[in-house]
Amino acid sequence: MKAAEARTVFIDFFTARGHKHVPSSPVIPHGDQTILFTNAGMNQFKEVFAGREKRPYVRAVSSQKCIRAGGKHNDLDNVGRTARHLTFFEMLGNFSFGDYFKEEAIEWAWELLTGPYGLPKEKLYATVYEEDDEARELWKKKIALPDERIVALGKKDNFWSMGDVGPCGPCSEILFDRGPKYSCGEGCGIGKCDCDRYFEVWNLVFMQYDQSPDGTLAPLPRPSIDTGMGLERLCMVLQGVDSVYETDLLAALVEEVVRLSGRPYDKGAEGVPHRVIADHIRSLVFALADGAFPSNEGRGYVVRRILRRAARYGRMLELGEPFLHKLVDTVDELMGDVYPEIRERKESIRGLISAEEERFGQTLDQGLAKYEEIKKELSRRGKRTVPGREVFLLHDTYGFPPDLVARMAEEDGLSIDLEGYEKLMEEQRVRSRAHAAFDDSLGGEIALEGVPATKFRGYETTELETVLSAFRPLADGKAAAVLAETPFYAES
Ligand code: SER
Repeated sequence: MKAAEARTVFIDFFTARGHKHVPSSPVIPHGDQTILFTNAGMNQFKEVFAGREKRPYVRAVSSQKCIRAGGKHNDLDNVGRTARHLTFFEMLGNFSFGDYFKEEAIEWAWELLTGPYGLPKEKLYATVYEEDDEARELWKKKIALPDERIVALGKKDNFWSMGDVGPCGPCSEILFDRGPKYSCGEGCGIGKCDCDRYFEVWNLVFMQYDQSPDGTLAPLPRPSIDTGMGLERLCMVLQGVDSVYETDLLAALVEEVVRLSGRPYDKGAEGVPHRVIADHIRSLVFALADGAFPSNEGRGYVVRRILRRAARYGRMLELGEPFLHKLVDTVDELMGDVYPEIRERKESIRGLISAEEERFGQTLDQGLAKYEEIKKELSRRGKRTVPGREVFLLHDTYGFPPDLVARMAEEDGLSIDLEGYEKLMEEQRVRSRAHAAFDDSLGGEIALEGVPATKFRGYETTELETVLSAFRPLADGKAAAVLAETPFYAES
């Protein structure tokens, strides 16, 4: 089954069961400072779970664009090394806001996987939270899943939370056994290893708590359901291929990297650069389309890091010239029908990527030369750890993110002093805060009900004439002006 069909089958299955189809929210969670990027389908419903926001529906279904490259859910370092990790992916999910709970969530997930998706029952396993006897009983009694295929695990595996704060609860994962061929050998098993044999396809979260910044768990007004299934992983299973990179969602990107570099794709270690580039370009295109901008801080810094990692992996394939922008068309061909925002903003995305690549290319050569010097010096002194101040220098002056330096060092059998680096970074942060001139606080709350959202026009122009859609006096002779249109990026 192709990805487009798998996506539609999911949405249709749940709409037929009374769920409202809600479009994906942007990958940049505008207005939510607790996460860097949208990391799950439930993010846009966070306030609904907590009972602070009401919607005209109590069941929803979505296919959500997600990026997991920073914060609590961060898969950046695993990308390319495993068959299943991605920084950008789509999450299929069904949600209940105080409506149905565990029983329906489990029954429908099973029905969809073994019915329309046609997965063989005997290859499916379920994990449950060790204190959740109710979920275990449901798997046993309602689904007739044999006891040995239900595995109870601890908090690390079976208690899901979105970030350090927000809705959370115990979960039950459905795993697909890809067979002994994929086993990591002795000691392979659910909860015992992290290999690709028992493959998580769907996570059913039984939302019950709201976590406060101090870690305390307050019960949600009503128990709810949040499920998430990675479309790429599902397609990998449905299409019977060895990795997400071979599904119809990513294969064309890998092929394009082969075409541009002239280097064949390898499913093993030699294919890491192809996979990293194929993944990272999707994250970049979607993040930029939703308003991210490469910079030295926060989200923008993660975007910059992703781009630089991809560029450096390109060098391994001797793709010396800026090349990432050449992949934007392929991302559009694969995803532009479903997510028209990337098609609409393609030209400016391409421009941003190529300018950023060019800038990085200039420092990359100097940085690599510097790294070689550092390496020589270490070997002369018989040391095996790159000192924190050198990691900082490579970052600060040459733009090498520390994870890149760590990877380069690892390839040379060295390690890096990350702690020393962090300390210097913190010192620098303190220094730059002291110099910060931009004050983004309004100095008070302003009411904006009924005021239309400002239309962002920065992709087309840097200058425009517009009208005020609202004007609100504030304290101290200040005022807030809301414009109908603006070319400026919001500091959000
Ligand atoms: N929020 C859960 C997850 O991300 C299920 O959607 O796994």
